[in-house]
Order: sequence, then C-alpha cells, then structure tokens
Amino acid sequence: MSEPLVLGIESSCDETGVGIVRGRDLLANQVASSVELHARFGGVVPEVASRAHLEAMVPTLERALADADIDPGELDAVAVTAGPGLMGALAVGVAAAKACALAWGKPLYGLNHLAGHVAVDLVDHGEVPTPCIALLVSGGHTNLLRVDDIASSITEIGTTIDDAAGEAYDKVARVLGLPYPGGPVIDKAATGDPIKINFPRGLTARKDLEKHRWDFSFSGLKTAVARWVETRERDGEEFELGDVAASFQEAVCDVLTAKAIDACVEHGIEHLLIGGGVAANSRLRSLLAERAAVAGVELRTPRPILCTDNGAMIAALGAEVVRRGLPPSAADLGATSSLPASRITL
Ligand code: KG4
Ligand code: ZN
Repeated sequence: MSEPLVLGIESSCDETGVGIVRGRDLLANQVASSVELHARFGGVVPEVASRAHLEAMVPTLERALADADIDPGELDAVAVTAGPGLMGALAVGVAAAKACALAWGKPLYGLNHLAGHVAVDLVDHGEVPTPCIALLVSGGHTNLLRVDDIASSITEIGTTIDDAAGEAYDKVARVLGLPYPGGPVIDKAATGDPIKINFPRGLTARKDLEKHRWDFSFSGLKTAVARWVETRERDGEEFELGDVAASFQEAVCDVLTAKAIDACVEHGIEHLLIGGGVAANSRLRSLLAERAAVAGVELRTPRPILCTDNGAMIAALGAEVVRRGLPPSAADLGATSSLPASRITL
C-alpha cells in the first residue's frame, strides 16, 4: 500500500480537532477550542464541552477536508479518539467518526488519546525511535509511558495520584487571581526568583519512592501555594507575584523533569518525548533540555501547537495502525472514558 491517507477526529476534552495525514505528511490540522466558554468556571465543564463539540464538529471536518484538498473517497481510514477523556465529549467524536466511516465506506479505528500524543511527533520529526519514554502533561493527564511500538506496545510506568500537572497550574492561577487557563499565564508571570519559596516536590521523599517511584502528586503543592498566599494576605505582608509564580513553576518542572530523565536512565532508554498542553511551558522545556543533555538523553519536543489536543495526532497514529495492517474497530465501537495507555486500538 502507498502511504495511508487517514482522517483523525479528536474530541476528548475541550478541543474539537480534525487532522488529515498521508503517512507522516500533515495535510490538515483544524482545531476549534471551547476554552473561552469554560473560562468563567475556572476549568472544563463537561456538558458545555459536549455541546461545543456538537456545534463545531461538521464545520471543523469541512475545513480540514478543504485544507487537505482531498475527496473523502480517497481516504484509507477514519480514526477517532475512543478514550480516555470526558465521556460525553468522546461520544460526539465517536458518533461523528462512525457516521463518516459509514457514509464514505471506510474502515473505522477507535484509538487511544495518549498514544496519539506520542504519535504526533512523527509528523514533526519522522520515525519515533523506540524504545522511548514519553512524558504527557496536560490539564487532563500526567503520564510517564514506556513506548516500545507506537501502534502496539505502550506501558504506563507512572501517573498522577491526584491532580494533573495542568490542573495544578489552573488551580494555582485561580489562587493568584489570574485567568483560566492558568498555564500560559503563570508561565508569563514567572519572572521572579524560582528559589525564593521552597514549595514541596510531591512524591520525591524517600518514604514515597518505594511505592510511587514514577508517580506524581500536585495537590499538596497547590495547597501549599494557597496557604502561603493566604498567610501573607492575612498578615498584610507584601509579596511579589513573580516570585510565587516562578517558585511554583520550578516545583512542578523540577519533579516532572527529574522523574522523566531518571526513568530514561534507569530503563536504559536514550529517547524522551513530551506532549500535552504543559509541554508548551518554557521552563519545562529549558530544564528538560538541560537535564537531558547532562544525562545523554535525546529529547523530542513537537511544536507547541501539536502538543495540545488536536486531530492530527489521531490521524498520525491511525496511519501507523493502518501501515501495520492492524484490524479496524467493530461497528459498535463505543467511547471509554478511563482507557489505559496500554490499549492503543479498540
Ligand atoms: O493538552 P491541553 O490543551 O488539553 C488537555 O487538558 O487535554 O492542555 C491544557 C492544559 C491547561 O491546564 C493549561 O493551563 C496547560 O495545559 N498549559 C500550560 C501552558 N500552556 C498550556 N501549562 C504550563 N505552561 C504553559 N505554557
Ligand atoms: Zn491530551
């Protein structure tokens, strides 16, 4: 078969994404975000997200097909995020993908969102060297994965035991009176001294390492920032927002980068890939680059627009699945909100 032409649909959170790839060439990547609708609630409201997907799906599909300048009849497959994610949001994407596959007479592939975050690097940097470690950090997930084959062998080695990394950014932004989503705002506000306040590094104490060597925890950090600010405000003590933002950011990035690099070293793996909205963070990128260079680890960082949720990642994974001749999903494919990373195809 020539390079598979695949359309991918993503709707697991608040981005309606439709991407089209021919093999590893990105032909279209249309994303409609409902982030503004959630801003006043300080986080994604599932029902609002589902409705927004419903409204955005057809126009986004049409724009992607126009961008790629293809006829749906030329496609080899339709791929869709089947999980993990918000149930109602996923259901909209799966229903749309089923309708397309049926109408166009194409095979349908239900795919894992987390594997999509890894696969998207293919369109930026070509073949993903395996084995590799992937650090996925967003508002909805925080995962450390071992990837032996992008389409058939992914093992989760660590995850968050409470808040996701991006969720911590969003909640701390709220504490600091900054708007949602908090990640980019804190990234910009973090102009102060990153070692001014020694905020806790979750699950790095010796007693936690036995059970949670590769896991993360951000809820204690969020509470520590809230307490620190409350105490200063109660005592009428002035403080620099830039110092709090930088010290918080340092605590998050220190733990994420240390565990990701240690995972590479301890597993004898030379390649580290990052994905998810938080992967756009400037400090995470610079600290990771520094520590990767010291450890002799090769870092793969997709461009920021491909790090956040999009349809291209699902199309890119779909092309790999088709290339390997894996079987399509059954006609009764459903959405699975808590899909483990190891189930790449459904
Ligand atoms: O991948 P994404 O667009 O959607 C999901 O959550 O799945 O990620 C959004 C998250 C939000 O929590 C946002 O605050 C965070 O990524 N984020 C950042 C940055 N840009 C987005 N966090 C830290 N620094 C950034 N520059
Ligand atoms: Zn995601």
